[in-house]
Amino acid sequence: MSPTKSREPGKSPEPVKSPEQWATKIGVILAVAGSAVGLGNFLRFPGQAAQNGGGAFMIPYFIAFLLLGVPICWAEWTIGRHAGARHGYHSAPGVFYAISGKRVWAYLGSIGVLIPLVIYMYYIVIESWCLTYAVQYLTGTIDLGTDPSHYAERSATHFANMTGLSQNGFVYAGNLHPSVFWCTVVFIVNFTLIYFGITKGIESFCKVAMPLMAICALVVLIRVLTLGTPNPELPDRNVINGLGFMWNPKGTATDGVWYAALLNPQTWIAAAGQIFFSLSVGFGIIINYSSYLRRRDDVVLSGLTASSTNQFFEVCLGGLITIPAAFIFLGAAGAVGGTFGLGFNTLPVVFLYMPGGWIFGFLWFFMLFLAAITSSLSMLQPAIAFLEEGFNISRKKSVTLLGLISTAGAIYVMYFSKDLAALDTMDFWVGTMMIYVLATLQVILFAWVLGAEKGRQLAEEGAEMKLPRIFPFIIKYVSPTYLLIMFGAWCVHPDNLPARIKSLSEGGVPLFSVGIILAVLVALLGMTHLALKRWEARGIQEVL
Ligand code: PFF
Repeated sequence: MSPTKSREPGKSPEPVKSPEQWATKIGVILAVAGSAVGLGNFLRFPGQAAQNGGGAFMIPYFIAFLLLGVPICWAEWTIGRHAGARHGYHSAPGVFYAISGKRVWAYLGSIGVLIPLVIYMYYIVIESWCLTYAVQYLTGTIDLGTDPSHYAERSATHFANMTGLSQNGFVYAGNLHPSVFWCTVVFIVNFTLIYFGITKGIESFCKVAMPLMAICALVVLIRVLTLGTPNPELPDRNVINGLGFMWNPKGTATDGVWYAALLNPQTWIAAAGQIFFSLSVGFGIIINYSSYLRRRDDVVLSGLTASSTNQFFEVCLGGLITIPAAFIFLGAAGAVGGTFGLGFNTLPVVFLYMPGGWIFGFLWFFMLFLAAITSSLSMLQPAIAFLEEGFNISRKKSVTLLGLISTAGAIYVMYFSKDLAALDTMDFWVGTMMIYVLATLQVILFAWVLGAEKGRQLAEEGAEMKLPRIFPFIIKYVSPTYLLIMFGAWCVHPDNLPARIKSLSEGGVPLFSVGIILAVLVALLGMTHLALKRWEARGIQEVL
């Protein structure tokens, strides 16, 4: 049992609102999988795998999946359901407080509201690019000219004009960036769905969007796998070699052995980072979603199913489409690039070469848009839950308040678009670094504060399968050690903290963006302080 606080004599207990709950088991699995499946699966994963050893990347990737991804996922599902179904707490600060009984954990939990909220501010901008491209494919307004030697350059210019990459502000060459309009549309869609709530909004949408996404991705995949050798003059550029380019373990230039990548710590760091980002582990999201379960709803099989669904989308769909397709049409030199380069510069050129390319281009970007929207919805709900349970305000008010805050954030990200400076800074400090911190806190809370053995028993209440016997050992010792080693190695890598700290000393957008993140954090800590007054009066006894 969690610690039980007695109420001060004379204070009447505050009634706990009857919670929203998921309507169906498949609904919650699809919602969690919907949060996990996103741009990370289709754009980030292929780039990471291809740059870090190809097939060899999959070894540290699956090790991180088994030792970090799945165990932490189970821990999140368990503490979320426990705090939500038994004690009526749904936001990370509330959940952490209910599990530990300590105020300090509520303050630490505010990171679980900060992360999704800040990520939302820039993720929504990328989401709007996907919608913009989908619409542009439908209306035939992506014009890369007729000269193949200029396709790549024109594609890059098209992207730069749409996003404002070359200059800050909303206007370029006398026109508003098209993504500004579409970002407004995307905002409205997100907030309308959130307003409808857990079952009518998020669950209903994910039930339709997830299968639709799978269908769109499968259609594009079949197209790519049946391309054969589109240019007979270049027989090496065929489907098999495209798959080989992505998946054959690659040595380095100086050391050709296949396992060379495994000897490089960077491969292990990249694999662990990808697992976190992709599974939405360490974001404060799974604890929020699982807090709307009932007491005896299964968490073990559901957690595993949601994670496996994410892996299917990532490895079997994301991993077989982008890079092989780029290789087939553009060769080895054209099939490399970071997340955005690959997704928004290279792929439009690939679709131009591909027979029927405009329809596949539309399906692809529409699918990315759906993937992004099911993820961005999950970023809003933790803050909504925090506002509602911390301050007892209505859904309408909490949605309005969150709308104002996140709009201000997104406007900031869109305005400082030159070299995507604001987006990149927020992604580094929050989307990459903070998630290590929150994941570590969650592991400590589950395995050490609640207790790994107790956690296992709670997880198995109502579960449809048992946890592996080794789970308590893994979550108590292996996951935190692995996590800390990866985090330490990540921090000291010259491209990470050292480079970023240096860029902060130069001032400008990076420094200002970090200031904004800190301001949001301070505001959330202050709000947690106020919320704690209510929560202490209400106590942590079993309420439901
Ligand atoms: N897991 C999502 C992806 O792979 O794109 C990204 C994501 C979802 C990040 C939810 C953060 C989040 F809160």
